[in-house]
Amino acid sequence: MSRNSIDSLLLETRRFAPPPEFAANAIADADLYERAAQDRVQFWADTARELLHWHDPFTQTLDWSNPPFAKWFADGTLNVAYNCLDRHVLAGHGDRVAFHWEGENGDTRTLTYAELTAEVKKAANLLAALGIHQGDRVAIYLPMIPEAVISMLAVARLGAVHSVVFGGFSSESLRSRIDDAQAKLVITADGGWRKGKVFPLKDAVDGALANGTSTIEHVLVVKRGNNDVEWTEGRDLWWHDEIVTMDAEHTAHAFEAENPLFILYTSGTTGKPKGILHTSGGYLTQVAFTHKNVFDLHPETDIFWCTADVGWVTGHSYVVYGPLANGATQVIYEGTPDTPHAGRWWELIEKYGVTIFYTAPTAIRSFMKIGRQVPNQFDLSSLRLLGSVGEPINPEAWIWYRDVIGGGHTPIVDTWWQTETGAIMISALPGLTTLKPGSAQVPIPGIKIDILGDDGTRVDPPRGGLLVVSEPWPSMLRGIWGDPDRFRETYWSKFSDLPESSSSGASATAPGQIRYFAGDGAHVDTDGDIWLLGRVDDVMNVSGHRLSTTEIESALVSHPIVAEAAVVGAADEASGQAVVAFVIIKSNQQHAQTADEASALLRDHVVGQIGAIARPKRVFIVAELPKTRSGKIMRRLLQDVAEGREIGDTTTLADSTVMQIISDKLR
Ligand code: WTA
Repeated sequence: MSRNSIDSLLLETRRFAPPPEFAANAIADADLYERAAQDRVQFWADTARELLHWHDPFTQTLDWSNPPFAKWFADGTLNVAYNCLDRHVLAGHGDRVAFHWEGENGDTRTLTYAELTAEVKKAANLLAALGIHQGDRVAIYLPMIPEAVISMLAVARLGAVHSVVFGGFSSESLRSRIDDAQAKLVITADGGWRKGKVFPLKDAVDGALANGTSTIEHVLVVKRGNNDVEWTEGRDLWWHDEIVTMDAEHTAHAFEAENPLFILYTSGTTGKPKGILHTSGGYLTQVAFTHKNVFDLHPETDIFWCTADVGWVTGHSYVVYGPLANGATQVIYEGTPDTPHAGRWWELIEKYGVTIFYTAPTAIRSFMKIGRQVPNQFDLSSLRLLGSVGEPINPEAWIWYRDVIGGGHTPIVDTWWQTETGAIMISALPGLTTLKPGSAQVPIPGIKIDILGDDGTRVDPPRGGLLVVSEPWPSMLRGIWGDPDRFRETYWSKFSDLPESSSSGASATAPGQIRYFAGDGAHVDTDGDIWLLGRVDDVMNVSGHRLSTTEIESALVSHPIVAEAAVVGAADEASGQAVVAFVIIKSNQQHAQTADEASALLRDHVVGQIGAIARPKRVFIVAELPKTRSGKIMRRLLQDVAEGREIGDTTTLADSTVMQIISDKLR
């Protein structure tokens, strides 16, 4: 976000106190903040005991003796799936609906907690029969169908580790994730429904395994698209053939609180996606706590709908683990919001009586563009709370969301968090906080956030700086799969005095300070409310999805016609940021096609390498890239061009005429 928009953001003066009736019935009370302020670690211990079932109770809460590697509740044991399923059934809630699933093509399926528990038990027996044990990695590459949730919970039930790969990722991306985690099994579908068509998934799995060197032993295939698939006898198995033979009884064994639960790959500042590792007890504690208190969950009466795909962390934490740990009733939808008509989401809210709705600003902006006449055709009066996640929500979108979707009365919680944080970190609590459109506002109880200057000192409000988490938290990432050095370097080196690195004396932080650097800029106002300003590194946010400029550059240069490439995220009204690439074609290839042809070819190539979400909006074929004398590409200048601005300071360029040539050419 540019300086100008920060200033205009902070001129936002509208305030919304909790509606009295909402406040009177709210789940969270102010006591949470007080208890957390008195003793943060004790607060999390109490929360973990209150919200989860422990097979063996823990006696240690936090072990931070070897930072940045934290252990929470380490001597306790639990089973994550038991917490999400069996215990609700045992408590007499077996008949409560766990979710209403709606396929894009109109198929529906409703599963109660008793039914979901039985399905997961069968699936756990099936995975066990396929040789999956504690600690084994299972890749899940599925559309948003019930089997996605069932698979995740079945893996968790066995103490194994899932790695869900978003169905929109390419075969190449799937292959690199399978290889990095050394997965033994892939669970996929023949295809899924999207935009009125079946998109194939099994094909991509076949492609990912084609070189024959994979660690994958079996491919379990759910029938969903009814599209034709290739079959490798001995390796491939139909889910429906196998599951019918399985027993619906399965005893959940307890695993240590720090038993790995999942790996989820996310884009960082370098070319290779990072496998973010989460474990069991701390993760489940914080997702359950935030789902309950941030969304004011009344499990007997609420219908919760989070629109995220389980391929992203939001789907892990607020479709699967948080809501199910809390015994919530949900809606799960397979397809796109505009199929078969522009009001599909609103139709589902009306149909199921959704009371709490959680989505991303990019979706809200796209609905704003279509206009209020579409949602106005549906009865949305069941809604009582709205949520936003994934990128800053600008005040105008916030107000539109509240007025048009929320009937002018629902609170909106703007929730800041990351794949790495596992659960919500900054958010209003809707029955307590007076809302400020555009600000994510305050750390949730038990979380310590600071805004620092580059030198590591806390900024005095009102001022901007870099967002850090100053104390370990239960759902924090436990590492990057297979790469502890990268974990330390990426998140902890900037503002911490880590034991081994403190001898260098280079740190500006006070001795013993260990702080997690989130990669986001933020402003803190005089009330102490936090306004997120976007990434400060080479990570882009396109439609609420994280993409790395370097990763897309690597994809581009992997094409034989490309000599060099630079990628920037350019401000875009619809998607927040859009991928814009500048590419130099190898001289012996320059006459093989026109610039338009090369551009189209390369856009498709990126889709093949990474997936459709990474498709550049524009690829400019250029003769030179702006570089400093030391050879570093100055993306800032390319961003000026891509956003149609006056080009900034070019004095550090090795050749200051380059920018003129580029911008003349694009005009
Ligand atoms: C951004 C998604 C502003 C931020 C849960 C963060 C936000 C990145 C917000 C993480 C918000 C997420 N306001 N920015 N409410 N929520 N972000 O890992 O830049 O896909 O670092 O996790 O999204 O994206 P991720």
